[in-house]
Amino acid sequence: MAKSHQTFVCQSCGAVYNRWRGRCEACNGWNTIVEETGPASPAAGPVATRPSRAKGRVFPLEGLTGEAKQAPRTPSGIAELDRVTGGGFVRGSVILLGGDPGIGKSTLLMQASAALAARGERVAYISGEEAVGQVRLRAERLGLAQAPVELAAETNVEDIVATLSQGRPPALAIIDSIQTMWTETVESAPGTVTQVRGSAQSLIRFAKTTGTAVILVGHVTKDGQIAGPRVVEHMVDAVASFEGDQGHHFRILRAVKNRFGPTDEIGVFEMTDGGLAEVPNPSALFLAGRDLAAPGTAVFAGMEGTRPLLVEIQALVAPSALGMPRRAVVGWDPNRLSMVLAVLEAHGGIRLGGHDVYLNVAGGLRISEPAADLAVAAALVSSLSGTPLPSDAVYFGEIGLSGAVRPVAQAPARLKEAQKLGFAKALMPQGRGEAAERGLSAEALRHIADLVAGVAAGRAGRKGADAKRARLPAYDDES
Ligand code: TYD
Ligand code: MG
Repeated sequence: MAKSHQTFVCQSCGAVYNRWRGRCEACNGWNTIVEETGPASPAAGPVATRPSRAKGRVFPLEGLTGEAKQAPRTPSGIAELDRVTGGGFVRGSVILLGGDPGIGKSTLLMQASAALAARGERVAYISGEEAVGQVRLRAERLGLAQAPVELAAETNVEDIVATLSQGRPPALAIIDSIQTMWTETVESAPGTVTQVRGSAQSLIRFAKTTGTAVILVGHVTKDGQIAGPRVVEHMVDAVASFEGDQGHHFRILRAVKNRFGPTDEIGVFEMTDGGLAEVPNPSALFLAGRDLAAPGTAVFAGMEGTRPLLVEIQALVAPSALGMPRRAVVGWDPNRLSMVLAVLEAHGGIRLGGHDVYLNVAGGLRISEPAADLAVAAALVSSLSGTPLPSDAVYFGEIGLSGAVRPVAQAPARLKEAQKLGFAKALMPQGRGEAAERGLSAEALRHIADLVAGVAAGRAGRKGADAKRARLPAYDDES
């Protein structure tokens, strides 16, 4: 039963309702619901009425030969980008690339387009935001003006599909950005969720039928979501986000969803005068400029996907003048910090209730691994006691609520990276001689109390040398 029904669509999250309401239940946004006519989804109506014909073909899963056997990929030639896509753009796949304005999405995609085009592939760059002249100007700045990339400034999806369908299908088509696109198949005003969804649908159909890899650029709202419909995220094959701190030069490309590759890989770039440069050894970048003698810093041997990454965790614990001490975190999960603080209090014999705590992951990196617990705890204890941690040591391990230090995955890779960067010591959960294998001296920590005792021992060792500077005991020795 085909019926063009009226729907009410939340313009912020894409939730669909059958009557108007003031507040979206899905995203709690006020006054975001707008009436839109036409079928809720273009596919929903007509398909039901069509008499069924045995038109589709089925294929056996095994026994596929040649081209169909493995997803054929087109590597971009930019190693950090290919790492995130899983080895190159898969033919006919659609990638949604999100990121804050000005972070460098257009720059990255122009560089990728030029690299592909230089290798003889047909590449089209469709800009809905900038005029052709502006795009060309950017390419000139990047020294890529000679690259045979086809440029167009266009916002109508039907026109774009018609243009791209002429001649050999492009290997890669960039749509910058999906929010500026509109399609005639949908009645809603440009920029609405329905338009964005309709445009994405047409472009995805184009990708699947021609084998062109399509990259859709998506704007990001203030709270970090890709603006417009979340449904676009479900429609595409891969979602990547380009992150970075405006105050820092490096940028991180992170796969959020990937049907054809890993989702936990990151690509690291540095924004330079000549565009984005690859950073093949990010640990060295994140550890640059470390203050070795300062208390409150610990090096965390982390993993991002298959790649080990060493970063400095900085903590500042200072007596608070406030009734409710401050807890501020940059680059880590605040709930996780609360947990580590609680465990330090309950099982490490440390009182932090009267102290402000600031935690920062150096360089603007954002880490989400629980394996950082131990490094965070070490930095906190070090700052509280005023004792610098050994500068040649790395830390990793998850802390349980009982205070136990739990093993984490991929310890050998972490140790190998630490050794490569000249570290001599690893403070880690109980291992199986992995550290010794890597030429590092390992200190196995079973419990958070071991960590606290270790830092205290470091302080005792220092006391003789500069007894005057040694602070009052910061630990709670009430007994
Ligand atoms: P852009 O790619 O336009 O960002 P987006 O498409 O994500 O909005 O990047 C713009 C920023 O990049 C701008 O602030 C200037 C900076 N930039 C450089 O530092 N070097 C360069 O070579 C280029 C092209 C841009
Ligand atoms: Mg842009």
